[in-house]
Amino acid sequence: EVEKLKEREDILLGFHDILGKSKKMQSLFHVIKEVAGHNTNILIQGESGTGKELIARAIHRQGNRSNRSFVDVNCAAIPGTLLESELFGYEAGAFTDARKRKIGLLEYATGGTILLDEIGEMNIHIQAKFLRMLEDGHIRRLGGNEPIPIDVRFIFSTNRDLNRMVAEGTFREDLYYRISVVPITIPPLRERTEDILILARYYLEEFNGKFKKKVKGFAQDAERILTSYQWPGNVRELKNIIERIMILHGDGETISVESLPAEMRSIANHEQFRIQIDNVLPRLASDGIDFSSVTERMTNDIKRQIIENTLEMSRGNKTEAAKRLGISRFKLIREQKKIANHACASRARNVL
Ligand SMILES: Nc1ncnc2c1ncn2[C@@H]1O[C@H](COP(=O)(O)OP(=O)(O)OP(=O)(O)O)[C@@H](O)[C@H]1O
Ligand SMILES: [Mg+2]
Repeated sequence: EVEKLKEREDILLGFHDILGKSKKMQSLFHVIKEVAGHNTNILIQGESGTGKELIARAIHRQGNRSNRSFVDVNCAAIPGTLLESELFGYEAGAFTDARKRKIGLLEYATGGTILLDEIGEMNIHIQAKFLRMLEDGHIRRLGGNEPIPIDVRFIFSTNRDLNRMVAEGTFREDLYYRISVVPITIPPLRERTEDILILARYYLEEFNGKFKKKVKGFAQDAERILTSYQWPGNVRELKNIIERIMILHGDGETISVESLPAEMRSIANHEQFRIQIDNVLPRLASDGIDFSSVTERMTNDIKRQIIENTLEMSRGNKTEAAKRLGISRFKLIREQKKIANHACASRARNVL
């Protein structure tokens, strides 16, 4: 019961449906509350799956436009010329296929909010036109002359480094300054480990409901792996993995390490390794150690474990394992030989 209450409290530490008790997320919620009521442009940056869309929707809901529409435009999904007519609309006869007038999304969203998702993918020609609209506050439909005032709150999001794109000349500098009045950066999940278990438990409950299961939680060592995993796909990856586990997992009380995907389990070995180092360190303080030989042995051990795990993941296929490790097959074989030789040498030394 106490656990349950605590969990609910943790969830309440979130904002709308965004969970997070980490300092980084808490201060982000604070910024969102501050900016939501104003009409400033907001740029949300963050890796894929960190919750950019979720936060954009929360800003819309929290602001004074919440009873009007929220329009989500993915700039990467719509090819350049089409994106222009989707946004600005066109008059009948503007081009060959334009039989009837079409209202663009900028007009359609009047009074509401538009999320321009993956803004980094907007081509440079539309960027120029878009900037003009932001500055003048009106548009002209394609093939039209009449200026139409635009009353929309803009939120932009991207997982690209716009600053770098500006430096490389693929994103307009003036547009960048215009859209990043309030920049919000969502930290990747691995930089706010306090949030991992809150999210994992939340999704566990969600999928308990969905799949009619009664799983109570995660075993302690499973939790340790969840928190030390790097989560390259962030919250989306976490949600997908919990869903997969919940589908495959029987009706046991807790989720054990064995239920976790292989790529996550392999980090458990690194944990063991850290414990080995911890065992060596106190000795270092008292008697001193032979630094070179100890670090060499450990480096070798790390290499061996990484290679073994990767080979296991690749079902013994060396070509596949080498690919996963980002090295050539030749280098993989050479490393294996070196490790074997080293093991022989240290055994020989021990005998002496
Ligand atoms: N803090 C959070 N609390 C709860 N759910 C979250 C949180 N962050 C992300 N999610 C969930 O993770 C998934 C991915 O979020 P979202 O689509 O907002 O990410 P994104 O940053 O827009 O990703 P992409 O760059 O790939 O478009 C969604 O299911 C969302 O509900
Ligand atoms: Mg998104």
